[in-house]
Amino acid sequence: MKMSSMMPDVREVLISSEEIQARIRQIGERITEDYRGERPLLIGVLRGAVVVMGDLMRNIDLPCEIDFMDISSYGSGTSSSGVVRILKDLEEDITGRHVLIVEDIVDTGLTLSYLRRSLLARNPASLEICALVTKPSRRRVEIDVKYLGFEVPDEFVVGYGLDYDGAYRNLPDICVLKPEVFGAGSGG
Ligand code: PRP
Repeated sequence: MKMSSMMPDVREVLISSEEIQARIRQIGERITEDYRGERPLLIGVLRGAVVVMGDLMRNIDLPCEIDFMDISSYGSGTSSSGVVRILKDLEEDITGRHVLIVEDIVDTGLTLSYLRRSLLARNPASLEICALVTKPSRRRVEIDVKYLGFEVPDEFVVGYGLDYDGAYRNLPDICVLKPEVFGAGSGG
């Protein structure tokens, strides 16, 4: 594949596109086994999760459905406050459904912790979490991620859905940017 024009901004490729695709294939196979006979509803959290959602759903060999939520955390800076506002709610009623939340990254865990509680209150038949990347060293609340792609160190990562200041989501690899590229911003 042609080298991305964004690569000059990249200090290091942490996880290559090939590794990501191989891992998503494995996770898709596990989900296919675990939900056999069911019609799971995958819920993506905008915006970062759209990339993993697109690849994951094509590796699940079941009649699954998808829906999206957009949420925003109150508070300032790069760290979540844990207070979350729903900007766009689901289209689907999840009562009695087998729900799988799909996230790009778990950082402090506060977003997923809130989301999990809020979705459980709607009485799904089951609720599990799939996240491509986790930063365990940043965790502030315990989160049980049943389907996990990779652990990454506490570095500012971009690519494969993760952004810096809105950009780099379309990089196929998960990368660390050169320090001169970013100042004080929010994201990944
Ligand atoms: C990211 C990610 C999670 C959240 C994780 O979203 O997609 O939703 O942060 O952080 P936490 O574990 O500390 O709560 P972000 O707010 O960057 O929005 P985006 O997906 O639109 O980039």
